[in-house]
Amino acid sequence: MAVSFIILAAGMGSRMNSDTPKVLHHIAAAPLLHHALTAARSLEPARIVVVTGHEAAAVAKSAEAFDPSVECVLQDPQLGTAHAVDMAAPLLKDFAGEAIVLYGDTPFIRPETLEAMLHARARHSVVVLGFQAKDPGRYGRLVARDKELEKIVEYKDASDEERRITLCNSGVICASAKTLFDLIAEVGNANAAAEFYLTDIVQIARAQGLSAGVVICDEAETMGVNTRAQLAEAEGAFQSRARAEALENGVTLTAPETVFFALDTHIGRDAIIGPNVIFGTKVTVESGAEVKAFCHLEGCHISRGATVGPFARLRPGAELAEDVHVGNFVEIKNAILDEGVKVGHLSYIGDADIGEFTNIGAGTVTCNYDGVMKHRTRIGKRAFIGSDTMLVAPVTVGNDALTASGSVITENVPDEALALGRAKQVNKPGLATKLMARLKAIKAAKGKS
Ligand code: UD1
Ligand code: CA
Repeated sequence: MAVSFIILAAGMGSRMNSDTPKVLHHIAAAPLLHHALTAARSLEPARIVVVTGHEAAAVAKSAEAFDPSVECVLQDPQLGTAHAVDMAAPLLKDFAGEAIVLYGDTPFIRPETLEAMLHARARHSVVVLGFQAKDPGRYGRLVARDKELEKIVEYKDASDEERRITLCNSGVICASAKTLFDLIAEVGNANAAAEFYLTDIVQIARAQGLSAGVVICDEAETMGVNTRAQLAEAEGAFQSRARAEALENGVTLTAPETVFFALDTHIGRDAIIGPNVIFGTKVTVESGAEVKAFCHLEGCHISRGATVGPFARLRPGAELAEDVHVGNFVEIKNAILDEGVKVGHLSYIGDADIGEFTNIGAGTVTCNYDGVMKHRTRIGKRAFIGSDTMLVAPVTVGNDALTASGSVITENVPDEALALGRAKQVNKPGLATKLMARLKAIKAAKGKS
């Protein structure tokens, strides 16, 4: 069954009190919008249309960054949710499949729930996702009888009796694209808010003799974000779920409540994650790898058997092959570390390729930036980089080569060569004692004056 999505993201989100449009605020290191897009994409849809309005260009840019095949349409002015969906009509009116409407500010709808709605379409022309609200507040109420949905009443327009209903509208609606747009064409704005309500399509469908039904999901799924407090709450909800899932999938989390995941974090079975590890976007940790306490990881790949940290920072483009060891106070960026490479302590490795089994001594720095451009450092296999080596890129160190500690390497080092790039040491017998005596005398003279 072909399906397309319409994601509503035109609203201003004024209660966020922000210059950033609401759907671009982050949960789990990803904009709210990307959470909805992730759920949509997991159903392998024919098309995804995002309805933009407030800060349209920024929202469209973010949607395209998620997936260039996502299409955006502009809604200006914003006259209500039915009007918003109607903006997608030129793109989807002739689409011979299902249409599902999602909200860009509702990040936790599960793919399984969307599948359940598609299945329910076998019984109903219009399917609405509802939930039993602990505190129904200002949600639209679902007026249902014997599994048939009669209508959705917005809070503002509801009678006292209707306000007592606890079955609420999540906002997610599914119908065939044709039915959806035909029904929307009938929606008026004679209501308390003078808006074109998407929710009106239920009553219109029923009046035309079509069936409408409800699929019920857990309230946690329908959690929307309207305020910073709800954003923080949603972050907490995401993290609790991600931690539980990681444990379920066979990942060891020493102190789960201190680990923060991103929307797209992938961790293999039997990986071990220590306390206080933060995952930014695009991190993969393979089975059996270990990330020790206090690491910050982003845009990196950690292969089987590798160990990272404690206190390591991996930045975008850090590729660690099997059995690599990255120790404390090491930063790695845009660098490929082949099998068995060791960078144990206090190093910066940026824009580099390091061959297998090479050892990088403490305090090594790839001097990759000349103030204008970035340059690459290439180190061969089984090389030994002495402690405190400065590798002034672009520079190449050969296989089985060695650099002396404290060297500033500005020229390429051939295979098997030893490179010394530092001043030769000179010893001056007795000079230390003489120097100390002189300094003490100076200090004593100052004390008298
Ligand atoms: C809507 C539903 C309500 C439901 C609630 C769930 C309607 C009329 N009401 O109410 O039944 O219980 O969601 O959270 O649909 N948007 C646009 N363009 C517009 C108006 C809204 O893109 O012209 C977008 C908003 O950015 C938002 C979503 O649609 O993402 C919902 O709009 P909002 O105004 O928040 O609807 P609610 O009043 O919360
Ligand atoms: Ca809302």
